[in-house]
Amino acid sequence: MKQLADYPTVALDDAASEILMLDQTLLPGELKLLRLSKQEDIWEAINVLRVRGAPAIGVTAAYALYLAAKACPEEDPAAFEAAVQKAADYLATSRPTAVNLFWALDRMTRAAKGNRGRSVQELKALLHEEAVAINDENTQMCLAIGEHGLTLLKPGMGLLTHCNAGRLGTVEYGTVTAPMYLGHERGYGFRVFCDETRPLLQGARLTAFELSAAGLDATVLCDNMSSALMQTGQVDAVLVGCDRVAANGDTANKIGTSLLAIAANHYGVPVYVLGPTSTIDVKTPTGKEIPIEQRPGEEVTELWYEKRMAPEGVGVFNPAFDVTPAGLISGIVTERGVLRPPYTESIAALGL
Ligand code: MRU
Repeated sequence: MKQLADYPTVALDDAASEILMLDQTLLPGELKLLRLSKQEDIWEAINVLRVRGAPAIGVTAAYALYLAAKACPEEDPAAFEAAVQKAADYLATSRPTAVNLFWALDRMTRAAKGNRGRSVQELKALLHEEAVAINDENTQMCLAIGEHGLTLLKPGMGLLTHCNAGRLGTVEYGTVTAPMYLGHERGYGFRVFCDETRPLLQGARLTAFELSAAGLDATVLCDNMSSALMQTGQVDAVLVGCDRVAANGDTANKIGTSLLAIAANHYGVPVYVLGPTSTIDVKTPTGKEIPIEQRPGEEVTELWYEKRMAPEGVGVFNPAFDVTPAGLISGIVTERGVLRPPYTESIAALGL
């Protein structure tokens, strides 16, 4: 029987003009590979989190834009460029917070616009190349984050994470999980604690699933138990992903991350954000300017219950992300190394 490791998070079947993706809304109960070709279906898959996690959303958007370009007629280069831009604008409305979506779409449209004068056929080949590069760089980036992240950790440590910044949120290895996987291969014996991550349960359904499937020691806890766990002294570091890091280091990540960071700082536990430099948005000065996605209230009141568990008509506050102030973050681990405070300086030094 096929295991989780046999499925790609997201992949391109160019011959069939389809994007393959594991439907993450069904995990861990069902392993179902989707084959999507219509732009509306790919948009929907990003919007309802069949594919999710900032880097994986970026790769999906790049492949989707390539498929949109591939379907265009070839006679008129100006009409082709306009059609590619229109498809990019549409895909950009699927989710607002993870900057990798916009970063990937921007990289793709620049590849087309930067090569005006080439035939449409050549432009299609260039867009294919660019999308494949975005995918392949993702794997290299995760491995580098893993190596840099591992320098911060010691064998036997207890690591607490939130949401899923694993291979299911990237293409392979993950960001937060990369040092965990590398450490596991090298006999570090980490104990990983996974916040369940209300309301969509990415920690319990996805992180605990992928880690335990790979043979790591994973323990699930409800989000409101992390302070109690830290009080026991079992957490040596908090490792979280990111959807957008502002120029000053303020970091948007899954809702609940800021609460975890506040508790960790209280107990003197270091908080590390792990993510690629493509998630750093130097055009966003501080966390205040990061757009935060608001999601349907039913995710809180109904989704995991046989019948609605909150009173009808009650208001629901359901932001998908929160911003952890830079002051609570001990280090930002990128593929280019570990950034330390003051982040305004260490981020500017990257020259992004
Ligand atoms: O709403 P999600 O599941 O897309 O949120 C994902 C996260 O918050 C991750 O931590 C982040 O995107 C990094 S994934 C490597």
